[in-house]
Amino acid sequence: MEKLALHGGPKTKPTPFGQGRRFGEEEKKEVLAVLDSDVLFYVFGSKVKEMEAKMKQMYAMKYCSGCSSGTAAVHIALGALALSPGTEVITSAITDMGTLTGILYQLLVPRFADVDPQTYNMDPKSVEKLLNRRTGAIVAVHHAGLPADIEALHELARSRRIPLIEDCAQAHYTKWRGRLLGTFGDVSAFSFNHFKHITTGSGGAVMTNRADLEERIRLFVDKCYFRDGRKRNPYFLAPNYQMTELQGAVAVAQLGKVERIVGARRALGSRLIAGLERIPGIIPQRIPDGAEHSFFLFVVRLDPGRIRATVQEFCRALEAEGIPCEPNKITGGRPVYLYDVFQKRSAFPGSLLPFVSRDLRSKVAYLKGLCPVAEEAFERTFNLNINEFYSNQDIEDMVKGVAKVAEYYAVSP
Ligand SMILES: Cc1ncc(COP(=O)(O)O)c(C=O)c1O
Repeated sequence: MEKLALHGGPKTKPTPFGQGRRFGEEEKKEVLAVLDSDVLFYVFGSKVKEMEAKMKQMYAMKYCSGCSSGTAAVHIALGALALSPGTEVITSAITDMGTLTGILYQLLVPRFADVDPQTYNMDPKSVEKLLNRRTGAIVAVHHAGLPADIEALHELARSRRIPLIEDCAQAHYTKWRGRLLGTFGDVSAFSFNHFKHITTGSGGAVMTNRADLEERIRLFVDKCYFRDGRKRNPYFLAPNYQMTELQGAVAVAQLGKVERIVGARRALGSRLIAGLERIPGIIPQRIPDGAEHSFFLFVVRLDPGRIRATVQEFCRALEAEGIPCEPNKITGGRPVYLYDVFQKRSAFPGSLLPFVSRDLRSKVAYLKGLCPVAEEAFERTFNLNINEFYSNQDIEDMVKGVAKVAEYYAVSP
């Protein structure tokens, strides 16, 4: 057995991983055009409109609105649906806080569905158990770039006549049975933050096919101001989530690259899965039939029956081999409901809202153990880095590194 780099042995990966630039001539051209136009405000400019037209065309959707972030996009979707305060919204226990921010700001009550133990996506069976007469929407999260079981979730929402929002922040241009995510729900939300497949630094987009939601979406982006000459008279509360022309310009160029980026990640990720699957005790995220994974994240589980190391110990050894990895991370480091804002019910100072019922008699509590599969998943998994600039050699080296560390820590038969 080869000596671990941690113990002074040779490093598996002494060479750097593939790197590249995300922005090039395409972005420069678009941004310079905006500056030359002397307008950065989306109402008077053309780039946010161009980005919206491009996204609509790529996804074959009727309406698209650019906005300032993925957090804003989810908030806009909820605001457009005009759910009354106190209404429950079901979402995944594993997601970014950005999925929850809009829920809380709209004074809606989040309910957390547990996840599938192999995909880490929300489990439709758990969603079903949470449905009740107070449920006003489901926010499906396509986590890590892997489609959630969107047909099952769509069917649950349809059967209860409640809207389905798709949070596609981590799943740009990703397909389920050949159909793009973001086209299943009543509304879909995208993020262009720094870490996403494509980025505008911060930014987002909301899409829908529902004509009845389009106006409220546009108004929710922009203080409930009509921008078509009609007299200003906001008739509901809406923030300012405008996308600027600079973000719009970069988004136009980035949208032109998304298919290639996702394709490259999918090829590399599939190769990594194929390599890791052969290593005893190493369990990559399961890709259900019909799902195309766009590998925003690459999540790996250790089988405690075959590997006698904690994920922290395993990752320390892997890092020493030159393979970056993050233990207990998935998204956010723990199920979202374990964050203080839920544990202490401290969304708003001096108030328990929205974690209290409309008649103020009962409070919602998010106790540890609420979603045991999600909680256990964080303990047993680590994330490997992956991006579109990696080479096949990088992937082979990652597989070799994991195999070496797994062999060292293998439980003897
Ligand atoms: C699933 C999910 N939803 C929402 C968001 C929020 O997006 P943003 O950071 O653009 O506000 C993120 C960002 O990490 C995310 O991963």
